[in-house]
Amino acid sequence: MNYLYQRDFLRLLDFSNIELEKIIMLSEKLKKIKKNNQEIQLLKKKNIALIFEKESTRTRCSFEIAAFDQGAHVTYLGPGSTHLGIKESIEDTARVLSRLYDGIEYRGHSHKVIETLARYSNVPVWNGLTEKFHPTQIIADLLTIKEIFPKKQFFEIKCAYVGDSHNNIANSLLEASAILGIELRLVSPKKCWPEKNILNICQEKAKKNKNKIICTENIKEGVKNVDFIYTDVWVSMGEPEKIWKERIALLKKYQVNKNMLDMTDNSSVKVLHCLPALHDKKNAIVESMLKEHNLQDGVEITDSIFQKNQNIIFEQAENRLHTIKAILISSLVKNITF
Ligand code: CP
Ligand code: NVA
Repeated sequence: MNYLYQRDFLRLLDFSNIELEKIIMLSEKLKKIKKNNQEIQLLKKKNIALIFEKESTRTRCSFEIAAFDQGAHVTYLGPGSTHLGIKESIEDTARVLSRLYDGIEYRGHSHKVIETLARYSNVPVWNGLTEKFHPTQIIADLLTIKEIFPKKQFFEIKCAYVGDSHNNIANSLLEASAILGIELRLVSPKKCWPEKNILNICQEKAKKNKNKIICTENIKEGVKNVDFIYTDVWVSMGEPEKIWKERIALLKKYQVNKNMLDMTDNSSVKVLHCLPALHDKKNAIVESMLKEHNLQDGVEITDSIFQKNQNIIFEQAENRLHTIKAILISSLVKNITF
């Protein structure tokens, strides 16, 4: 029995540890199948709407390729191309789209919007990122962790998330850790700690499983003996440009660099990044920022640490495809036969 059939995928806390493990196992199978050129199309005749109110490289491409590989069709609805929430209520758009499509992906500014979309749709709605959560990213990261430590259980993994701990990546990592038992330290200045309600629920859940989730401002305490350091941009999509100055002042000492890696006391510590990353000067934002804020090398991560971990980081990016495919199949196919 597939308990994920017809379910929405809005945030990780809606799922059990067994359900998350099942998605990861299916992703592993699908990755192998694709690499061996043995794709079996389970989504033929399915139509999928992809609503993107914010930019995307990985998430959009992964949804599209996952759908194409599986024989489904997609309609890409980019920023400004629907009436959603402007000329038409979210409720009505949800009712229309769910008559036309078998599933709806949404990336947008407000988690409330995706909750409304899901409430008024009678087809599955998948969260492609909101300001609060980015659950499909974290499933890809979990697959990456599993691939690095195939013999370990998630409750044997220690991870430090360093930087802006009140963003969508931190929140979803927090939820995944609470469910799966990962020991998580959120390492940031207090001003960047997660919202109390999300943190409390996750800490309670973790405690029940005898697992530890902490927030700390102390880098040394936070990163000591971890298997992974995870970081993300300091200013997320949708936040105002002008916030950069304040964030850099707050987070400068939380940059992932050699000094921080040395503090782990683990010479084989691995670095994760969901991308896009501000690690070199080959993009429009970094050069001006390095000058203006006197940052030496990279923003949230130095280029040398990024390059050393690039195999893992780009594996995370590739794993978006396999995990999103697993999520689509899990919600749209009643009996998965492999
Ligand atoms: N990591 C991630 O979600 O990337 P995109 O913004 O390119 O989709
Ligand atoms: N926190 C980042 C994640 C990008 C994938 C953002 O929302 O911009």
